Amino acid sequence: MQENFEADLVFASGEGNYLPSADVWIVIDVLRATTVMTRWFELGGTELYPVRTPDDARKLVAELKERGSSPLLMGEVNGIPPEGFDMGNSPLELTYEIIREHYCGVMSTTNGTSALLEAESSGSPVMAACFRNYSACLDHAVTIGKRIGILCSGRKHRPSWEDTLCAGAVIEDLLRHGETLMSDSARMALTLWQNRDNDTEAFVRKSTHAQYLSQIGYSDDISFACETDSSTVVPMLAENEERTVLRAVSGSARPYHRENVRIEPETVKKSDPFEELLAYTRKKV
Ligand code: MLT
Repeated sequence: MQENFEADLVFASGEGNYLPSADVWIVIDVLRATTVMTRWFELGGTELYPVRTPDDARKLVAELKERGSSPLLMGEVNGIPPEGFDMGNSPLELTYEIIREHYCGVMSTTNGTSALLEAESSGSPVMAACFRNYSACLDHAVTIGKRIGILCSGRKHRPSWEDTLCAGAVIEDLLRHGETLMSDSARMALTLWQNRDNDTEAFVRKSTHAQYLSQIGYSDDISFACETDSSTVVPMLAENEERTVLRAVSGSARPYHRENVRIEPETVKKSDPFEELLAYTRKKV
């Protein structure tokens, strides 16, 4: 029987936003916050604390260290890492080795982390999506409810081309799940996605933020962010926690397209799952 869904979309996060009611919120910040969040869990990270400002991040790191944790301090202001951060906001900076040293991270970005916190204020479940994992996210979202809210992070409270484009991909996917009543904003995003002349990366590179990132040396991040459906990870805000924290929905962080992978037995030490994942990644055919 065809399911009946509702899709609503907010083009940009920002103070004083009116968030319509939804059973679940999908937050999108393709360049690059939700792409980094997805990568964090793809590589085995366990917790990621989104905070608004670099100072909030520094304070939380100090607090977590006092409790014996060793969080990675990561994020950006205007695309580059703030003073004293361990890394910036490039998904390509993350490696298995870094994750094995930290497992837990604290993240502050210009728009994406604030968008997550804004969606959290709705009281509904919240997940982080990007081109890499949006199908996996939607597969999970439709198990939560019928009213799907999409919050595009945007840039400095204004719509962003790439987030709207990704939202359109989510909505097109939702139509495959069943009959969907779309808001005008959702329909606009779908129309943008369906008119992307079939080269997602080339279309994304038209955006002002993509052009800015390329200018400051992060062009490869854009290619990485446009690897559509390359991940099954579903990062979600955990509920009933002392602090806002992202975790991967259990069972979602599994290698994608496993049949394409040749794992040479001698390269995989059974005792260390990270070695297996490392070998898996290196042996992609
Ligand atoms: C954002 O929050 O808008 C992004 O993280 C910006 C970036 O990574 O350059």
